Amino acid sequence: MGQDAQAATLERIDVSDPALYRDDTWHEPFRRLRREDPVHHCPASPFGPYWSVTRYDDIMTVELDHATYSSASELGGIQITDQPQGQRLPNFIRMDPPQHTAQRRTVAPIVGPKNLANLETTIRERTAAVLDGLPRGETFDWVDRVSIELTTQMLATLFDFPWEDRRLLPYWSDVAVANIDAPDAPVRSNEARMAELEKMADYFLELWNERAKGEPRFDLISMLAHGESTRAMPRPEFIGNIALLIVGGNDTTRNSMTGGLLALDAHPDETRKLRDNPALIDKLVPEIIRYQTPVIHMRRTATRDVELGGKTIRRGDKVVMWYVSGNRDERAIEEPDRFVIDRPRARQHLAFGAGIHRCVGDRLAEQQLRILWEEMLKRRLEVEVMGPPVRVYSNFLRGYRSLPARIRA
Ligand code: HEM
Repeated sequence: MGQDAQAATLERIDVSDPALYRDDTWHEPFRRLRREDPVHHCPASPFGPYWSVTRYDDIMTVELDHATYSSASELGGIQITDQPQGQRLPNFIRMDPPQHTAQRRTVAPIVGPKNLANLETTIRERTAAVLDGLPRGETFDWVDRVSIELTTQMLATLFDFPWEDRRLLPYWSDVAVANIDAPDAPVRSNEARMAELEKMADYFLELWNERAKGEPRFDLISMLAHGESTRAMPRPEFIGNIALLIVGGNDTTRNSMTGGLLALDAHPDETRKLRDNPALIDKLVPEIIRYQTPVIHMRRTATRDVELGGKTIRRGDKVVMWYVSGNRDERAIEEPDRFVIDRPRARQHLAFGAGIHRCVGDRLAEQQLRILWEEMLKRRLEVEVMGPPVRVYSNFLRGYRSLPARIRA
């Protein structure tokens, strides 16, 4: 093969294909891009032309320059897929300052240190109840019984959401982020998605109106209903922000709980290390999150012509930061493809992003995962993975539909 043919092949690499993540075959194309063309232009994809940023340091550069790399909904938002025209749902992850700053500040206290300390006992009791309720010596679905249940309970607490209806939350989350072309998508068109999200909005509006009338309380709905920058949101922005908080707190932590079990099952030496020294949980948790990287990418739009990694990105171009790749960048992380539960700088990863949009719920996510593994160790639960997981068909969220598991009796 001549040099031209090789270059042509490189140009044709399109890492936006959701099948790469469903089949877990994304490692090699990204390894190649990081090595040969770290800021890579894909001229034609189902999502139009886009730039891929694949190295850790370049992703940081984009993250920290929000004036050049915008998150604004009007420019297309934060996913490689543009929001469909006429169905834009702005929310603060799809905003630039100053709007972003004000809205983020409204909800941030719910995941601040004081509230996290208050939540510790509740999370522990619920985690204990979920673990104690699992069958022994019998195969069950870890995703449904543990990951979804624990994150849904948490979310219901943050919203002070009617407990008996809590499974609506993961359903709406699935609807909000569904790839409508996926075989198991809960909605098959953007119109169907909007119709479901309108129902979600109606449900939340009732809770909202009640809480807006009352004294401010410490739950997400009350905080938004009383917040200066959020209390009079137009309906699309209302839907957008509710969906953001549901998706943010739901899929990501859920998939880390499943990814953590899978990683430990595949690395018995690391599991032994953990059993011998439970204090390693503090490093295990960020390593699980890095290794899983539940958010595959975030997208920005260039607001001016700019150089990155020797390439010229034009104003209006789509720029995609591939966190899955940055977290496996051998230039920034030693032996990145190994799962190592006692890494020296375990929290140095990109799974939570960086800069002004860095995940607001990062500490809560870590706390939930820490408590889950503390309670498992306390009970000496030996959980075996009984078969391969079913992975999600998506280029945005790296997750699991199901994972058969069994607790040794
Ligand atoms: C392991 C779990 C989690 C992961 C991997 C994760 C990942 C991320 C990422 C990558 C971003 C975008 C960062 C950027 O653009 O630089 C983000 C933003 C966000 N996350 Fe998380 N997240 C997790 C858990 C949570 C939880 C538990 C909540 C809420 C309770 C949450 C709420 C949010 C919100 C509201 C934003 C938007 C922040 C902003 O735009 O300022 N996330 N998250």
